[in-house]
Amino acid sequence: MQIHSSIADLRTALKGRGRVVFVPTMGNLHAGHISLMEQARAHGDTVVASIFVNRLQFGPNEDFDKYPRTFQADCDKLATAGVDVLFAPTEADLYPEPQEYVVEPPAIQHVLDGEFRPGHFRGVATVVLKLFNIVQPQAALFGKKDYQQLMVIRNMARQLALPIDIIGGETVRAADGLALSSRNGYLSESERAEAPRLYRELNKIREAIRAGEADTVKLENAAIEALTAAGWQTDYVAVRQQLDLSMPKGVNAPLVALAASRLGNTRLIDNIEI
Ligand code: PAF
Repeated sequence: MQIHSSIADLRTALKGRGRVVFVPTMGNLHAGHISLMEQARAHGDTVVASIFVNRLQFGPNEDFDKYPRTFQADCDKLATAGVDVLFAPTEADLYPEPQEYVVEPPAIQHVLDGEFRPGHFRGVATVVLKLFNIVQPQAALFGKKDYQQLMVIRNMARQLALPIDIIGGETVRAADGLALSSRNGYLSESERAEAPRLYRELNKIREAIRAGEADTVKLENAAIEALTAAGWQTDYVAVRQQLDLSMPKGVNAPLVALAASRLGNTRLIDNIEI
């Protein structure tokens, strides 16, 4: 696997490589990321991954400084997964000057996670567009675990006519249902044992809707109550339309139940398609 930190070197390395498939990450790779790398292989000739912890998408009181950086272990995993090229820029490589031109996503950036993480999706969209311009892939994969992120990027690609297929990868879960996430490492032993409740509550919503329940607000409130009773502090549990995360107009269109809740100091997000 080739590793490049400079934009110029990466561009040279990618000349004549056929169809390029790109998987951007912030590192601290787990089986969810590796599954995206493996799926990427089926979509093109050259698989490019990136590792960059993007300061722009973290709020002032968020975990940018303590975000786990495990570069050597990540490189080993990527090489084993058959990634051809890793782009791992420093902040000076990617942001040699303050990033003043930004991508301002529409209303979707202010709801759900965006309500609790102001500026987050602006930071994500800006770095992803910049990475797309650097790597110039024909396809890119993003995990469905970050469902709203996937929608923001998919809508950005469509509206800005980016010539890139945006592919969503299924969430990879531990045996007890907890969605794999770099932030799971922040959980204490007892919090880790409690954490799968988030997925169980989302599952209950899905089962109730499948069984004919149409009052999605009632289901959301029941999940919030169950989480609160178990010691969680919930930002939202929401049933939305898959397409644009707008409010459901009935339960027949494809829906998704999404949640963000805090266990101790760790904020977990998850979702389940219905
Ligand atoms: O999902 C992530 O790891 C990040 O948000 C991404 C897409 C790599 C942009 O920094």
